[in-house]
Amino acid sequence: MKIRGIKNVDFKKKDVLLRVDYNVPIENWKILDNRRIVETLPTLNHLLERNAKVILLSHLGRPKGYDKNFSLLPVKDELQRLIKREIVFIDDFKKDGVKEKINSLPYPSLIMFENVRFNKEEKDGDLSYVEKLSSFGQIYINDAFAVSHRKEVTTFYLPEKIKERYAGFLLFKEIENLSKLCENPQKPYVFIVGGSKVSTKLPVIENLLNYASTIIIGGALSFTFLKSQRFDVGNSIVENDMIDECKKIFKKSNEKLVNILLPLDFVVAKDKNGQGIRNERRDNFSSDDIGFDIGSLSIEIFKSAIKGSKTIVWNGPMGLFEIPHFQNGTLQIGKAIASETKNDAFTVTGGGDSLLAIDKLGLEDSFSFISTGGGAMLEFLSGIELPGIKILEEE
Ligand code: 3PG
Repeated sequence: MKIRGIKNVDFKKKDVLLRVDYNVPIENWKILDNRRIVETLPTLNHLLERNAKVILLSHLGRPKGYDKNFSLLPVKDELQRLIKREIVFIDDFKKDGVKEKINSLPYPSLIMFENVRFNKEEKDGDLSYVEKLSSFGQIYINDAFAVSHRKEVTTFYLPEKIKERYAGFLLFKEIENLSKLCENPQKPYVFIVGGSKVSTKLPVIENLLNYASTIIIGGALSFTFLKSQRFDVGNSIVENDMIDECKKIFKKSNEKLVNILLPLDFVVAKDKNGQGIRNERRDNFSSDDIGFDIGSLSIEIFKSAIKGSKTIVWNGPMGLFEIPHFQNGTLQIGKAIASETKNDAFTVTGGGDSLLAIDKLGLEDSFSFISTGGGAMLEFLSGIELPGIKILEEE
């Protein structure tokens, strides 16, 4: 894959359309996790120091047309605070006079367009919309790894139109680090996967079977895998339509000689409030038991599989970590990975619920690399070509 970076480009008095992913959690105007914003600062500073006019393009959430709850204004405030520079906010770039207003700004300047998904054309690649957007810059840069799996105007059709297009520093960093997981990774290599939906994790499990030595499956998705092995998992979440797929994974793991580890026991209860909470073996569930976290024996087995590994990827919590009495499994696994980071293993995590878990449990500094991507990271590790990256490749 050959993609051009921005290091040696002349940006002096150039107008740059910079796609970022500022799709961050916000509550009452407060940014709950600003990692995606902070991670774009190197690219932003590089461009501004080189006297460019930078127009930021981002989405936030999945609004259907204009919706003030999905406005990027709180993000503008946060970025202004971080970068210590005024940002000109354009609430609708299609209005008359916007181009003139931007032209009148000095070099360098920082401009932010309102949520691109307020325009329905963003999704469908409308030609005149692409034309209009492209008139604002001579150069396009993608620094939005987290949305590069979407084929939308600002990730695909816009760079298709603008011939001078590059990858920003964050996009490069993501590609470089995540590629190490699929190109001659150091072994032993452990992939730890959790979360609730088998369907969203199957492609990545399938692809990493080609590289990993061990795959640890925890979280709610382990119940579908266990059921495929004829365990009775009580009232725990099971995706019945995925059982055959789970069986195929076991078959493939046998062929590839990859060890799949499933929990041997769980913290079970009758409900989320913890009624009847106890540690229970996986072959001893009552019909009304629900597994909410991996159990103490599973934690020990998983920890010994992690110990001494050279490459570790973690995606998805081991249980319902948001509730204190179900967070121990996720915390212990996180800590076990952190110890291996100190022992020079290459350790990676990413994805919305994994990030929430590491923030909540104070494990932010425990990894070699934390991806800003959720779905994008999963698709990348599944071996799928991401349209937003593909379009940047040199012809
Ligand atoms: C994400 O948070 O995964 C990205 O911003 C992509 O958002 P989307 O799933 O709404 O396209």
